[in-house]
Amino acid sequence: MGSFDALVSLCKQRGFIFQSSEIYGGIGGFWDYGPLGVELKNNIKQSWWRRVVQMRDDIVGLDAAIIMNAQTWVASGHVEEFTDPLVDCKQCKKRFRADAIAHNTCPECGAVGQFTDVRKFNLMFKTYVGPVEESAALTYLRPETAQGIFVNFQNVLVATRKKLPFGIAQIGKAFRNEITPGDFIFRDREFEQMEIEYFVKPGTDEEWHQHWVEERLRWYIEDLGLRKEKIRARALPKEDLAHYSKGTFEIEYDFPNKGWAEIEGIANRTDYDLKRHSQHSGKELTYFDEETKEHYIPYVIEPSCGVDRIFLALLLDAYHEEEVRGEKRVVLKLKPQLAPIKVAVFPLLRNRPEIVQKAKALAQALRKDFTVWYDDTAAIGRLYRRQDEIGTPFCVTVDVQSLTDNAVTIRDRDTMLQERVPIERVASVIRSKLQL
Ligand code: GAP
Repeated sequence: MGSFDALVSLCKQRGFIFQSSEIYGGIGGFWDYGPLGVELKNNIKQSWWRRVVQMRDDIVGLDAAIIMNAQTWVASGHVEEFTDPLVDCKQCKKRFRADAIAHNTCPECGAVGQFTDVRKFNLMFKTYVGPVEESAALTYLRPETAQGIFVNFQNVLVATRKKLPFGIAQIGKAFRNEITPGDFIFRDREFEQMEIEYFVKPGTDEEWHQHWVEERLRWYIEDLGLRKEKIRARALPKEDLAHYSKGTFEIEYDFPNKGWAEIEGIANRTDYDLKRHSQHSGKELTYFDEETKEHYIPYVIEPSCGVDRIFLALLLDAYHEEEVRGEKRVVLKLKPQLAPIKVAVFPLLRNRPEIVQKAKALAQALRKDFTVWYDDTAAIGRLYRRQDEIGTPFCVTVDVQSLTDNAVTIRDRDTMLQERVPIERVASVIRSKLQL
């Protein structure tokens, strides 16, 4: 089994990711994050938010509604342009993206030259607001979070009195009715985006574009700990640009199952969106430059990434199989700060109530500061392996000696070395190892 398949299987077994509505046979392109998955996902989002909002004074946050006035999507160009080319095989009736058909041969049934003409298929999910399913009530689930930012540009500007350059950041769900979802959580129909719209003075946009490519690469390497050689930025050729983009860099990860593929797009959206919203709404969406005494529409640099794809890249990057004393050890070498569980606590002997009680009390005390897992359902070696597999950086064991010396062992996931620490110092030792 390759590392990709091994990881997909681990994700289900250990509770990172389940198929959505699995008991009914599932539904293509939708996934549920389990007890460990939701922790890791939250940690990724927190790391991003900390770097792009909390640590900067030029970016503020937003949490806009998923459903918006339908005019938004007319103005943004998504009703007209957000399409994939679609063909049907006349033989087996399956649908494909036209660009996924090689040599005019059906990938499903092998029929040659049996395709319908190419049609445009809009990827937005439709829905109706209110009790009547009529065209006036029609709107869409957002296919990108970005538009919630553009329509709030003036609100945020007035409320915060920010000066250019400044940005608005947002994390939230996006929905696309992808023709061919797949590669596990790589291409979904419901996914989560983390987007920044960074507003700049026209003419400074190219420089800011470069800046953001470098800054975003730093986040992946420094904060998420992805291996440098597995990540790169690539300029997209003109023919692959989205309808709003003057130029886009993709940040790509080298996935073991499919090679280099996009985890983030950094587009120069120019003044396209604000201009279009201004035209369609009749509202002025300009910025007054106090230095030059001019009103103008800012340009926008947009670093936009997908939480689910980053989640997948992180797990694949962290997944290791090693041999330890003749046995296979599976270990997720996640950056400790990102690990779903920070500390596991075990009693060395589960049939000794005094030890069990002491271990449970320690676990409870540590819960104030960390995500903790208490386990006494197997022998110690097996408990260590279970935690290695889910990336827990520290395992604390309470043993017989602990009853007299009030100390415990802390085992390090990567080195597997153990150190003895007084119980009252466990929290501070772990905190310093996590560099909190
Ligand atoms: N606002 C710009 C925008 O939405 P995009 O390149 O279409 O740009 C940005 O999407 C990011 O969202 C991608 O780099 C990817 O990480 C994620 N993404 C897009 N479509 C996705 C899908 N179907 N499943 C999972 N993630 C997706």
